[in-house]
Amino acid sequence: MQTLHVDLADRSYPIYVGAGLISQGELFARHVAGKKVAIVTNETIAPLYLESVQRALAAYAQTAIVLPDGEAFKTWETLQLIFDGLLSARHDRRCTVIALGGGVIGDMAGFAAACYQRGVDFIQVPTTLLSQVDSSVGGKTGINHPLGKNMIGAFYQPNAVLIDTSTLTTLPPRELSAGLAEVIKYGLICDEGFLAWLEEHMDALRSLDQQALTYAIEQSCAAKARIVGADEREAGVRATLNLGHTFGHAIETHKGYGAWLHGEAVSAGTVMALEMSRRLGWISTEDRDRGIRLFQRAGLPVVPPEEMTPADFLQHMAVDKKVLDGQLRLVLLRRMGEAVVTADYPDETLHATLSANYRALVGQLGEQ
Ligand code: NAD
Ligand code: GLY
Repeated sequence: MQTLHVDLADRSYPIYVGAGLISQGELFARHVAGKKVAIVTNETIAPLYLESVQRALAAYAQTAIVLPDGEAFKTWETLQLIFDGLLSARHDRRCTVIALGGGVIGDMAGFAAACYQRGVDFIQVPTTLLSQVDSSVGGKTGINHPLGKNMIGAFYQPNAVLIDTSTLTTLPPRELSAGLAEVIKYGLICDEGFLAWLEEHMDALRSLDQQALTYAIEQSCAAKARIVGADEREAGVRATLNLGHTFGHAIETHKGYGAWLHGEAVSAGTVMALEMSRRLGWISTEDRDRGIRLFQRAGLPVVPPEEMTPADFLQHMAVDKKVLDGQLRLVLLRRMGEAVVTADYPDETLHATLSANYRALVGQLGEQ
């Protein structure tokens, strides 16, 4: 087992990475202060992993709160089910919420922990690649609103993140690919060496090679911990973690939550960010194509939905959390391995990026 750290003064916490961790009661016990725990999970994950976690937590009084599965359920109504479960089992302020699942469960259970009795302890036990490399670390919690993704929420750090890499063996391949989008993101925004490593090991990652997966998770979590440690509340550098997300969230909202997976939308959205960075003269055509090829090799979509017009994008992007005083800030690449957050771009470049023919652009790539 490897242990990484998120350094945030009195809110610092460890990230444990290893195989079989969900069965290790002693690891949980280090971070449970009271006598009661509430395990929040969903109906897909419960039959796979709930019993192991319950056994590991046998020393505590337990409540299992099993939610419906899917991004479409990341809502006020589902959040209420968590509060119903906590209140009807009379959990007090010393209870610990355990989020067992992917990013949807982690974001919702974390938000519930932030609000319940004005804040109780919580532990992230992420079971998708995406949640292991991104959403479980850093304390962003929340739910969607019909008008915008993740628009209601709180910064609320977990007491620990327990990443059991063996849970990835049951993950559907499409979900594994979605997680790889966020892994590639770290290479693009802050570590060109890791990008090169990913190019070499993409096939091993897709075939669930445990050594390769563990390395990719550790590198991703280390990058995220470093960035969150420097900027917990996204006043600056943390926004670079949203490479491709402004375009991607527009795709997710336009298509209806759940139609495109988050990682899929991030992949197509990052292709748009690469194209805009190229149009600004910051990266070369070869760099852009290098990024596109890596997303393709990860099994991800690289063309935004063809029916989406520039007006559709602009409408959704106007509610992005990176809009400040009416100005849309975008995360772009100054070079491969270095991202910037900027509102300083010509409107025509954004419009040209939104109007580009991505199918043709990607088609040419295949012909080279
Ligand atoms: P998800 O939580 O919907 O999980 C994907 C699917 O895989 C679900 O059907 C789930 O039940 C299933 N699943 C989970 N673990 C499994 C396993 N081990 N075996 C088999 N099936 C399993 O999706 P996700 O990609 O994990 O998370 C996406 C969410 O994360 C989005 O809502 C996004 O907004 C959020 N997110 C948050 C942050 C953050 O910083 N808080 C960062 C990135 C993404
Ligand atoms: N996933 C973006 C962030 O945590 O800031």
